[in-house]
Amino acid sequence: MEINWEVLHLAAKEVMTKAYAPYSNFKVGVAGLVSDGRIVVGCNSENASYGVGLCAECGLISSLTATGGGRLVAVVCVDGNGEYLSPCGRCRQLLFEHGGNEMLFMTPDGPKPLSYLLPWGFGPEDLK
Ligand code: THU
Repeated sequence: MEINWEVLHLAAKEVMTKAYAPYSNFKVGVAGLVSDGRIVVGCNSENASYGVGLCAECGLISSLTATGGGRLVAVVCVDGNGEYLSPCGRCRQLLFEHGGNEMLFMTPDGPKPLSYLLPWGFGPEDLK
């Protein structure tokens, strides 16, 4: 399917402005194109109990499920300057569940398959 990376980048930057990051002052926004064409977004949400703060990708995944599920096709994650951000390890695993090896993730070197960010990922297939 057609991937409009500019639209995804704009959506990620927009939701980044909504991030709740009073402790790290590091706002993150993420936007994903779903297999049915809709766009889902998420931003980080920190907590006074620092360790339980939620990454932006957690919000994205919850939104994906809450709005009907489907497969993630392409994802853009940005920092507070709107620059492409590398997803943390836990979030690579969250994305893998719903996007698999083929899901594309935007990097400074262009879109990369999730298999590049999370080689030999553990997923639903391994439980069979
Ligand atoms: N953060 C994300 O939201 N996603 C990532 O993939 C990397 C880190 C957030 C967590 C925390 O609120 C802030 O960035 C600083 O670590």
